[in-house]
Amino acid sequence: MELNIRGRSALVTGASQGIGKEIASGLAREGVNVALLARNREKLEATARALQAEHDVSFECLAADVTDAESIQRALATLANKQAFGTLNILVHNAGVPATRPDSQLFWQDSEWREVIEVKTLGALRLARAALPMMAKDGSGRIINITGATGVAVLKPGLLHGAANAALMQATGYLASELASQRITVNAIVPGLVATENRRKWLQGIAANGGRAPEETLAALCKDLGIALGRWAQMSEVADLVAFLASDRASYITGAKIPVDGGLTLNMRGR
Ligand SMILES: NC(=O)c1ccc[n+]([C@@H]2O[C@H](COP(=O)([O-])OP(=O)(O)OC[C@H]3O[C@@H](n4cnc5c(N)ncnc54)[C@H](OP(=O)(O)O)[C@@H]3O)[C@@H](O)[C@H]2O)c1
Repeated sequence: MELNIRGRSALVTGASQGIGKEIASGLAREGVNVALLARNREKLEATARALQAEHDVSFECLAADVTDAESIQRALATLANKQAFGTLNILVHNAGVPATRPDSQLFWQDSEWREVIEVKTLGALRLARAALPMMAKDGSGRIINITGATGVAVLKPGLLHGAANAALMQATGYLASELASQRITVNAIVPGLVATENRRKWLQGIAANGGRAPEETLAALCKDLGIALGRWAQMSEVADLVAFLASDRASYITGAKIPVDGGLTLNMRGR
């Protein structure tokens, strides 16, 4: 399927690694110029170099914090001066706080609760607010929020991740309605378990603790979680949907919350 998005521009948050990097790569493969946003500049620049070696489009690195409105404003002001990015067609909010601890989030500190919501939910709103003046109003404007299955069903220990994702899905619908008059579509992608670098390390840890091979551990985990397809997602399976939603092929899709979870939320069993 020809997506016809060559020459458009995108900003992807949380783009230094994991799903965000893959989203940036997937858009670049379609000829989109991509601004990569995350806090750690060195890591961002290393990611941009790696992507530039593979794709003949423009990459910009924006070292910024989505919890800080001024930091976002500065990043966007820098971007607005770059030739390929004066108008922004595609805004992907993917940054999130990884769930690195298995303990009950009910007993987390307020500051830890706030961080999850500040990055995922309020980060998306800050970004949309700041980027809107730069966004294309010709029907090519796209806002795509990466949420997560914890926002649809209970998946322990993701109490705060679930609340932040559910709130972002609600906000996605709201923004879809509000921005329709500016011909901007707003959608959410809802991944399940995705084979990121961090998730691979997490799996190695569980496998080592259980004295089983990672493949065997993963198969048992997928069964335990009730993932109908019996496997986790490749990052490209999320990135491909971003590219499709970013294209004119998806021009009539707005306010949607689309799972990429192998059936996880069809049959959520919790853990
Ligand atoms: N992996 C999964 O299985 C899975 C499943 C469902 C949903 N998701 C969602 O998919 C998204 C990506 O997940 P991932 O596993 O690829 O994430 P990851 O590997 O933890 O990467 C997170 C990215 O976000 C950036 N980031 C974190 N806090 C930030 C902040 N305050 N401001 C700007 N950037 C920030 C990080 O860079 P810096 O630290 O340098 O800022 C990094 O680039 C997340 O929203 C996550 O909730 C993931």
